[in-house]
Amino acid sequence: MKATKYVLTEKDMPKKWYNIMADMPTPAEPALHPGTGQPAGPEDFAPIFPMNLIEQEVSTERWIDIPDEVLQKLAIWRPSPLFRAHALEKALGTPAKIFYKNEGVSPAGSHKPNTAIAQAYYNKVAGTKKIITETGAGQWGSALSMSCAFFGLECKVYMVKISYNHKPYRRLMMQTWGADCTASPSNETESGRSILANDPDCPGSLGMAISEAVEVAVQDETSKYALGSVLNHVMIHQSIIGLEAMKQMEMAGAYPDVIIGSAGGGSNFAGLAFPYALDKINGKDIDIIAVEPKSCPTMTRGPFAYDFGDTVQKTPMLAMHTLGHNFVPEPIHAGGLRYHGMAPLVSQLILDDIIRPVSVHQTDTFKAGLTFARSEGFISAPECNHAIATTINEALKAKEEGKEKTILFNWSGHGLVDLAAYDSYFQGKLADHDLPQEQIDAALKDIASYPKPKQAT
Ligand SMILES: Cc1ncc(COP(=O)(O)O)c(C=O)c1O
Repeated sequence: MKATKYVLTEKDMPKKWYNIMADMPTPAEPALHPGTGQPAGPEDFAPIFPMNLIEQEVSTERWIDIPDEVLQKLAIWRPSPLFRAHALEKALGTPAKIFYKNEGVSPAGSHKPNTAIAQAYYNKVAGTKKIITETGAGQWGSALSMSCAFFGLECKVYMVKISYNHKPYRRLMMQTWGADCTASPSNETESGRSILANDPDCPGSLGMAISEAVEVAVQDETSKYALGSVLNHVMIHQSIIGLEAMKQMEMAGAYPDVIIGSAGGGSNFAGLAFPYALDKINGKDIDIIAVEPKSCPTMTRGPFAYDFGDTVQKTPMLAMHTLGHNFVPEPIHAGGLRYHGMAPLVSQLILDDIIRPVSVHQTDTFKAGLTFARSEGFISAPECNHAIATTINEALKAKEEGKEKTILFNWSGHGLVDLAAYDSYFQGKLADHDLPQEQIDAALKDIASYPKPKQAT
């Protein structure tokens, strides 16, 4: 029998996270204060995040200890298995070896609890009573709801309206874990009311939901905000994916030529890729590919610029690839990939040619998801189908070229709560959106006057 799964024991779990900020060829540029436009200090983040997480956000320590309490909770599903996709390889007739790290085995069904557990823990230690957040598809909101329940914290989630309507079951998961979930934009906040006054039928965006969550979090000292992607500390927490994968690939006697992850804010991709990116920085030849939707082409068509993380411009400004904080993507089903910005660390590594961004059409991703489900069995989250579509492209390219490439991708979550999206696909209701340049130019006008990072594009 051929080996299909590479499984580590709890004893083999990494005890430290990897922080790529210690090894960046070009250091990431600092966040700027939203009011002054000057580099933001730790105290500028203090109204929204606890100091222990702010310290991680700016840390350049290569290795950061994972607290025992966090490891104990992660051990509910970690280490996650690494699979060899024998059946997919056969279905494609490719000489490529395809491996995937299965992050869908967490109770919430995705990679998001890797950072949600850590963030809930650090907030608890810092005395936070309530965490407020936003969510796109509901994966992050459900992960944080569960994590808050574990550590006895209250949790409030603003969920992008289009996803709130598409995905009632994620809302119910949040409720099951004790959180309160509201569709965003809402009438509960000034930000939400101002957005609705302009556009009563607004489908919402992650940028808008972040504005609502931050507005509520800063009103009370014992409340804090949490972000499920984009920020440096999130990338650090997710590195456990890649650190485990490295051990598992070694068990398989393999090393990846190609690494692939879907990228919304960049966290599952970075989690798998960053430990390997260090090898690439040190001279290894690896093609590290971040995949986004063509309808929200932040990395492939957005400039590298300073921009706000949210629509109402309350967050610090980050140097990142962005489509502008007022950009509202088409209501595609991969809600977690509908974000106007990209993690500053991922953005910087794109500029340094360590990461190669690509974009794919929505219908191609569902087609790929079906090929995967009908060979490997697992039904993937729509976000994850972006990684699968690119994996299939790379495997077919290897077939054409007659090359025995090793491909490793991150299976970031299951799609069992996303079956309505599959239904839309089956009924031929899903459209592909080629975003007109004028729409991007219009959204970018809003950031034209902002300070520019040194490597602005
Ligand atoms: C299953 C899944 N994959 C990928 C993403 C994209 O987020 P990130 O780029 O932070 O990994 C999300 C976001 O919600 C998700 O739920």
